[in-house]
Amino acid sequence: MAVNFPYLDVSNCNASVRVAQNGGQIFGFDRVGEPPVLWISPSAIYKSGVALRGGIPICWPWFGPHPKDESLPQHGFARIMPWELEDFYESDKGVTVSSFKLTDSKQTMNMWPHRFELTLHVEVSKALKIRLVTKNKDERPFEITQALHSYFFVGDIGQVEIDGLDGKEYVDVTTGKSHVQKGPLVIDGETDRIYRHKTTCRLVDKSIGRTITVEPKGSGSTVVWNPWKEKACSLPDFPDDGYRNMVCIEAANSGVMDDKVVVDPGQEYTLEKNIYLDSI
Ligand code: BG6
Repeated sequence: MAVNFPYLDVSNCNASVRVAQNGGQIFGFDRVGEPPVLWISPSAIYKSGVALRGGIPICWPWFGPHPKDESLPQHGFARIMPWELEDFYESDKGVTVSSFKLTDSKQTMNMWPHRFELTLHVEVSKALKIRLVTKNKDERPFEITQALHSYFFVGDIGQVEIDGLDGKEYVDVTTGKSHVQKGPLVIDGETDRIYRHKTTCRLVDKSIGRTITVEPKGSGSTVVWNPWKEKACSLPDFPDDGYRNMVCIEAANSGVMDDKVVVDPGQEYTLEKNIYLDSI
């Protein structure tokens, strides 16, 4: 890892978590004696101003390409800006809480002309609990789309299925067409789907005998992404066969099917994601 890449490394008797100053990005969550929970690309670029490939990038204040100006950064600017550590304490034995802040600056104002305070709360125990709180410090309402873009590590994508999406409508981003999910989701090709759905998903990974339960709050969409082989080869920070060991399950307000959030002056909006692990 690059020396000039500041991050907070938190460990307790249950687990450890790493959070980068760059992007407020979680890039490691490991339970003691178990395989990693989050996937980090072996060719990730550890550099300020670049989103790290893996972990949990924060997409904010827009998800995907900017709706009007493609020269602005994909998935917003929160994941490439320096955040500040705000607080850090042990709330109970084996439960450590930290929080990080990003506020408006001249640079953010140039990309998005609103005054805001964005706070990331990270609680690590046997589970990982994340809250992203948007506060409007402006005198007029603003609209956001956003995502907690988690990359999960899997032993072998061929032995994985995702439960909880059956019967849900989704947009296939690769074709722009809508479909309805039938049964569990199996990943066997490029997958880039936005489900208009906000309930819990369960990632069942038979190759390492583990389930990861992803419980969102405040989201209106679940995004599932795996680039598969061809796209992985085209991404400089993604190993050619890396797609076999990851899948993204993202809690989002994606903008799709009107899934946007309006925050009034002085008000807050919270997007949450709780990650629980079990063996099978
Ligand atoms: C997903 C999007 O959330 O993120 C995909 O649905 C996108 O379309 C993927 O390719 C990765 O985005 P990026 O900007 O981190 O390469």
